[in-house]
Amino acid sequence: MKYLVTSALPYANAPLHLGHVLEIVQTDAWVRHKNLTKDEALYFCASDTHGTPIMLKAKDSGIQPEELINKMHANHKNTFEKFNINLANFHSTHSEENKILTADIFKNAQDKGYIYKKNISQLYDENEGIFLADRFVKGSCPVCKAEDQYGDACEKCGSTYDALELINPISALSDSTPIIKESEHYFFQLNKLSDFLKSNIKKISKQPPIEAKLNEWLDEDLRDWDVSRDDPYFGFNIPGEDSKYIYVWMDAPVGYLASIQNWSESLNNDFNDLMNSQDTKLIHFIGKDIVYFHLLFWPAMLKTAGIKNLDEVFVHGFLTIEGKKMSKSKGNFILADKALDYAPADYYRYYLSSKLNTDISDIDFSLDDFIQKVNSDLIGKYINIGSRTQNFLVKLNGSKIIPNSLTKSQEFKDNYVEIISQIDAKEYSKALRNIMMLADKINAYVSKEEPWDKAKNGNEEACLKICSESLNVFKDLTILLQSFIPEITSEALSMLNLGKLSYSDLGLDNINSVQKFKPFIRRLEKTEFEGILD
Ligand code: MSP
Ligand code: ZN
Repeated sequence: MKYLVTSALPYANAPLHLGHVLEIVQTDAWVRHKNLTKDEALYFCASDTHGTPIMLKAKDSGIQPEELINKMHANHKNTFEKFNINLANFHSTHSEENKILTADIFKNAQDKGYIYKKNISQLYDENEGIFLADRFVKGSCPVCKAEDQYGDACEKCGSTYDALELINPISALSDSTPIIKESEHYFFQLNKLSDFLKSNIKKISKQPPIEAKLNEWLDEDLRDWDVSRDDPYFGFNIPGEDSKYIYVWMDAPVGYLASIQNWSESLNNDFNDLMNSQDTKLIHFIGKDIVYFHLLFWPAMLKTAGIKNLDEVFVHGFLTIEGKKMSKSKGNFILADKALDYAPADYYRYYLSSKLNTDISDIDFSLDDFIQKVNSDLIGKYINIGSRTQNFLVKLNGSKIIPNSLTKSQEFKDNYVEIISQIDAKEYSKALRNIMMLADKINAYVSKEEPWDKAKNGNEEACLKICSESLNVFKDLTILLQSFIPEITSEALSMLNLGKLSYSDLGLDNINSVQKFKPFIRRLEKTEFEGILD
């Protein structure tokens, strides 16, 4: 099987933060894991470049949107690399492939009668000459009268409403009072596909809370989706129109396909063959805030365009920091690049993975917990196995391992199988807990057998055997950890004079000799983290 795997396309208007890292680490670990099996997986992502916020941000900075998105594209790509994310391609929604694919999908939906036009009234800022998206207008809530609420929903009472219902609306762009203006928009009739969407849920989601949420939406009538925007807008023109644009959320998921196509054609492969093959599966990893777009709109677009359906959407919860929502203005925010000034990528990868599973609950990043977890698991449990045994072989046996020291490794075989299936099911926290449980067992075995005592008492053979047994398990745990901490495990494998290994190497006698142990990872201290939350 060939898995084409994606994470959500980050908006090209700001650098990535630790919440993005959670998602890309979750995706990358799964892709790396698949590549340790007989299957193949490739990771695709891209910049999400269109829409009003990006247009306005560029305007504010006095540059063209193209300049902003190119800069952010390079910035994001660099962050992905620094976190050791193994991307096949990082493309852009502002690309030729995406333009053609999106126009095609739009026209298909139009030709088949899923898209119609009608006039609607919206708030319009005359000073700026722009229709106001919900996020760019504030006023009092029509239900509870709370002041300073956005145009779509009230943060005080939770009501949702139309921006036209806001009391005393004010444009956030010019602080002026907007007028009401009419314009023709294109609407996608989602409801026409509700039977398909309903039967599709079980196929593309295996997460009960997501199924429940979708059924709740589908039990009501789905509202027609406004897929057009007026000038000025940064995006693709609606086919046949020169001052109307396709709404960013319509071309954004198409960007997944554009990224795959761009990669595929760069290798002179046929994109359609790849997509249509029975052996290809398309899997999306996303956060809980964009479920509606991925499990309703996106399958509906693919369906009307006659493109093969996606195979799975996997949803994670949100990252909080010290138990609170991430917020830049409240100083509870960590930029991805900044995090790396304080600790190496693998430490964050390990910590975040150790908290990830398949429910949609939020995941907390707490500094004390992070430090404690890295020190205790990675250093105190995992690396400790190698560091306390390796040197005996170097000193007493010319660095050679005793062949066939596989009793412990064999004993754990069923655990390995279970751990692999947990990683496959994206239950990383369970898998990592099991790996650390095995590390505990081996450490207890070493402590009980006391190889240092045996060496001192002239029983070198027993000492070497115990160390060899332990190192074989160390090697197995290293294989199982490779998807989560690629850098540390590659150091560990090179000290065992081994290259990259796959799951088929578990339990095998593949170590020949070892190198002297060099401490290559360090303990974290709380004092080093001052200023990380600014
Ligand atoms: N551009 C859209 C996605 C288009 S996909 C066709 C978008 N971009 S985003 O930059 O806001 O978010 C990208 C991904 O990061 C989303 O899956 C989102 O859920 C995730 N996260 C953003 N903040 C997050 C946290 N605090 N925690 C975990 N994931 C978070 O949405
Ligand atoms: Zn309210």
